[in-house]
Amino acid sequence: MIRLKVDNIDTAVEEGQTILDAAMKAGISIPTLCHMDGVEHYSSCMVCMVRDRNKDAYIPSCTALAQEGMDVDASGADVLELRKKALELLFSEHRAECEAPCRVVCPAGYNIPLMNRLLAAGKFREATELVISELDSPEIRCLTCPGYCENACRRKKVDKPISIRKMKILISENLDSFGAYDHEIPLSEYIDPRKRFSSRIGKLSDDELRQWLKECVREGRRFDSFEDFGSAGEEAMSCMHCDCRAAEDCRLRELAQATGLKDKGSKVVNATITKKINKNTGLIFENAKCIKCGLCVRVCEDSIDEPALCFIHRGFVSIISEPLTEEFDNILKTQTDKVISVCPTGALAKFNTNE
Ligand code: SF4
Ligand code: SF4
Ligand code: SF4
Ligand code: FES
Repeated sequence: MIRLKVDNIDTAVEEGQTILDAAMKAGISIPTLCHMDGVEHYSSCMVCMVRDRNKDAYIPSCTALAQEGMDVDASGADVLELRKKALELLFSEHRAECEAPCRVVCPAGYNIPLMNRLLAAGKFREATELVISELDSPEIRCLTCPGYCENACRRKKVDKPISIRKMKILISENLDSFGAYDHEIPLSEYIDPRKRFSSRIGKLSDDELRQWLKECVREGRRFDSFEDFGSAGEEAMSCMHCDCRAAEDCRLRELAQATGLKDKGSKVVNATITKKINKNTGLIFENAKCIKCGLCVRVCEDSIDEPALCFIHRGFVSIISEPLTEEFDNILKTQTDKVISVCPTGALAKFNTNE
């Protein structure tokens, strides 16, 4: 066994294990992005840096082997600062558009792109449940809002903005037709709005809350209307889904939030915003969101039966791609879900994966 200290905690690991393994054994958490247990080490992101106190050297804990007598600093101020710098470097080349502009400007932060995806897929009940889960005021805010979302809508640049308010109002007027307030449906199926509300709403019982929700969405003035959900769904198909498909499940975003890192709005990102879509599997690849961790390549390395992803070009211009001899439509026929699950960002996703 190799004996060492991590943050002054004595621990021991087998020969050949890493500092990250030793830290985990000592109950110390170190962030990682390009590392995955059982997959060959690569060390590209550097968010797992620690300090070897004996040598006064900074090393990536996911790759550096534990050595006898090591004294590792895994949470000192300088170590945390270095990890933050590593994250900043990743973000300097990352087109970080986690949320769609319509949602960013909405005073209530309603998840408009998801509502559009649900409507476009004919999932009207789910769209209704989403609206209920997001209610945060005595009436649906769209009734009195001047429509910031539509003003910010990117579709405007193509033809005209999506009629977001009309859709919201249509949904709010049809809550009963989906049994949204039936007592058989437990309230816990929805995100409980009381957690986000002021003390008055927070004190309501389940029944009172249902009644309150029922009343609040029916008050107010109506603008225009769609004839039915079908026409709303048709319009929703024009939505360009400007949000990131990994917005709710992105390790890079989580780390940035945990370290208080803010993306610089004025940066210049060279990576193009193009998306590749595999028509056979629904796999989407967005190069501008890839941090080149190589996990998607490494998890398929022993795959000889089907073409997978690989790096092409060299140095700063290297990117993840299908092999030069293959079409994107022909890759990863059986391993699409695997590469999506290991990707720590939204660079790899599936079409309509949020529905
Ligand atoms: S990959 Fe993560 S950080 Fe980047 S835009 Fe998507 S959610 Fe945001
Ligand atoms: S196109 Fe869709 S996701 Fe993009 S801003 Fe408009 S409503 Fe939002
Ligand atoms: S696509 Fe995802 S998994 Fe593959 S290199 Fe880029 S960030 Fe890593
Ligand atoms: S997790 Fe260690 S270098 Fe990326």
